[in-house]
Amino acid sequence: MLSLFLKLVLLFLSCEFPSSLSSKVIRLFDLSGNNLQGTIPSSFFQLSAGNLESFNVSKNSFTGLIPSFSWTETSCILRILDFSNNDFTGPIPPGLGNCSRLQVFRAACNYISGSLTDDIYAAISPEELSLHVNSLSGPISNTIVNLTSLIILQLYSNNLTGFIPQDIGKLTNLTHLYLHVNNLSGSLPPSMKNCINLIKLNLRNNKL
Ligand SMILES: *[C@@H]1O[C@H](CO)[C@@H](O)[C@H](O)[C@H]1NC(C)=O
Ligand SMILES: *[C@@H]1O[C@H](CO)[C@@H](O)[C@H](O)[C@H]1NC(C)=O
Ligand SMILES: *[C@@H]1O[C@H](CO)[C@@H](O)[C@H](O)[C@H]1NC(C)=O
Ligand SMILES: *[C@@H]1O[C@H](CO)[C@@H](O)[C@H](O)[C@H]1NC(C)=O
Ligand SMILES: *[C@@H]1O[C@H](CO)[C@@H](O)[C@H](O)[C@H]1NC(C)=O
Ligand SMILES: *[C@@H]1O[C@H](CO)[C@@H](O)[C@H](O)[C@H]1NC(C)=O
Repeated sequence: MLSLFLKLVLLFLSCEFPSSLSSKVIRLFDLSGNNLQGTIPSSFFQLSAGNLESFNVSKNSFTGLIPSFSWTETSCILRILDFSNNDFTGPIPPGLGNCSRLQVFRAACNYISGSLTDDIYAAISPEELSLHVNSLSGPISNTIVNLTSLIILQLYSNNLTGFIPQDIGKLTNLTHLYLHVNNLSGSLPPSMKNCINLIKLNLRNNKL
């Protein structure tokens, strides 16, 4: 605990992110809403495996890649990950698919590029995926309908192409579906009528 405290003091003095959390009992890590800069070391999550359940660095000025999650299914017990409102670049980090308890993944308002990865589609029980205002490209695979626990899906203001997943109606718990300002084409899938809990649907500025 003392060493963690020293690391946090150093962190705030030097604006340098610790390479790992030496405390193996820390559950909640929240540095959101500061003016922190620099990168998060690529091995941070790997070296900090243990009891970390909630990690929030949103609303800072972090740059570089979002570190990967090279964890096994048993070591990842993360439920909340929030990287929103920073200057992160590069792809969606690998390894999220092994975080079987992940409920909330936010990385909105960054410069994340590349496509939606298999890891995203392999998530077990996410309730919220918020990746809006980035530079994501490529299609939204129909396998996203496997994420039946989804309540909030925000992918707006990217460069996504292709169709709205045909079986989107399998996401019956969805309340918010925001896919506006992309390059989606095709027609509205008939199955959408099964999204009986939808409160907000925004598809404006596409090529539907
Ligand atoms: C992360 O922190 C921000 C700012 O404090 C807060 O608004 C946001 O809800 C938190 N994210 C999650 C997933 O709880
Ligand atoms: C996910 O976990 C399995 C073992 O449970 C491991 O073989 C695999 O490398 C892990 N994936 C990543 C991206 O770390
Ligand atoms: C989606 O679910 C189907 C049937 O349950 C399964 O065959 C498929 O492998 C799943 N896809 C992914 C990406 O997990
Ligand atoms: C959908 O929501 C209901 C009510 O909150 C919940 O009981 C159910 O488990 C959810 N479905 C999935 C697949 O998570
Ligand atoms: C859609 O694609 C066109 C060219 O194919 C491109 O000029 C435009 O910027 C794209 N729109 C978005 C919102 O990415
Ligand atoms: C979107 O993708 C198209 C085709 O790949 C590309 O021409 C365009 O520059 C991209 N637009 C943005 C805003 O990234």
